[in-house]
Amino acid sequence: MSEAGKVVYLINGPNLGRLGKRQPEIYGAATLEEIENEFSRLAESKGYSAVCVQSDSEEEIIAAIHEATEKGAAIVINPAAFTHYSYAIADALAQAPGFVVEVHISNPSAREEWRRRSVVSPYVTGTIAGFGKDSYMLALEAVVAAEAGAASKSSDRSR
Ligand code: DQA
Repeated sequence: MSEAGKVVYLINGPNLGRLGKRQPEIYGAATLEEIENEFSRLAESKGYSAVCVQSDSEEEIIAAIHEATEKGAAIVINPAAFTHYSYAIADALAQAPGFVVEVHISNPSAREEWRRRSVVSPYVTGTIAGFGKDSYMLALEAVVAAEAGAASKSSDRSR
């Protein structure tokens, strides 16, 4: 695949369209648009194009995961509250062939009891939580490093 052909999906779940207004003491001042722009610029600088999706609907999030799956694209996903109970999103992520990074702006493990369980975690490559909007950028760096590592491993094998 050419460098320019690499795609990463940024998928955000319910209530994240209100970032900037939503409990800024927890989720920060940046709007989702600002985060998506920063993510897309960083992706471009790494040779990726970003597809950004936000939805409050489980159905639309699953559709975006299926789309990424069909393209073999990496996924950076903040499932928001769905993290804690959506087996349907977990099942969709289980099918994704590429790297998947679960992201949280806050650190759910340090918050209410009900946030401490993620039903999607068994189906992701790794999780980055608690770094504010930088969690998304760190997740992208992780995808880039993981894909570069996978590429160098597959070229090792062909040696
Ligand atoms: C969140 C944490 C979830 O518990 C919460 O429901 C969210 C946002 C985060 O990014 O910190 O909506 O995923």
